[in-house]
Amino acid sequence: MPSAMYTEKVLDHFTNPRNAGRIEDADATCRIGSAACGDLVRLYLKIDPKTERIVDIKFECYGCAANIASTSVTTELARGKSLEEAKNVRFKDVVEELGGLPKHKIHCAQLATAGLKAAIMKYEAKTGKIEVDEGFVKRMLAGVLDPAEGVNVVAAGRIRSIAVDGKKVEVLLTEDVDEEMAKVLAADVREALDGLELEVTVG
Ligand code: FES
Repeated sequence: MPSAMYTEKVLDHFTNPRNAGRIEDADATCRIGSAACGDLVRLYLKIDPKTERIVDIKFECYGCAANIASTSVTTELARGKSLEEAKNVRFKDVVEELGGLPKHKIHCAQLATAGLKAAIMKYEAKTGKIEVDEGFVKRMLAGVLDPAEGVNVVAAGRIRSIAVDGKKVEVLLTEDVDEEMAKVLAADVREALDGLELEVTVG
């Protein structure tokens, strides 16, 4: 590993990640990234429903050293915070906390904080605080990476349409998506929306 490009803090969190693991009875989870390209963050949150505070948070991630270190710091910054406070954890805070990241590694921190926001939004949808509508689904899909483009599927222009009817969600991919890619994306889209008891079809 080219350790010279990382600060000591990054290396410390990489070799000794805080809050690594999973929470089996999590109140909110989220997976962001793509298994196909190897950048993947999974967060587990335990939330006190009365105080709406994050009482526990853990993560698993399959990514580079910067990704592991960023997610480790993100969990430290989010632990004990109210949901509103945790929503304001920005990737810049994570980068600062790590003493900096190389420019081409900034997206690793963005992946971590985007995952935190997505998990909170899913919790809010689950508890009826926000509505599951097209805008919500689009936000969740922004956490699904297009392995061919390295950006999220919305930014990569892979989504033709999103329709929500009660618990039914239909996501249509653009016609240039081949069969193999469609399978990968369909699985990632379903996972991005899991835990909300939605009936998701991807075509
Ligand atoms: S998560 Fe993509 S290079 Fe770090």
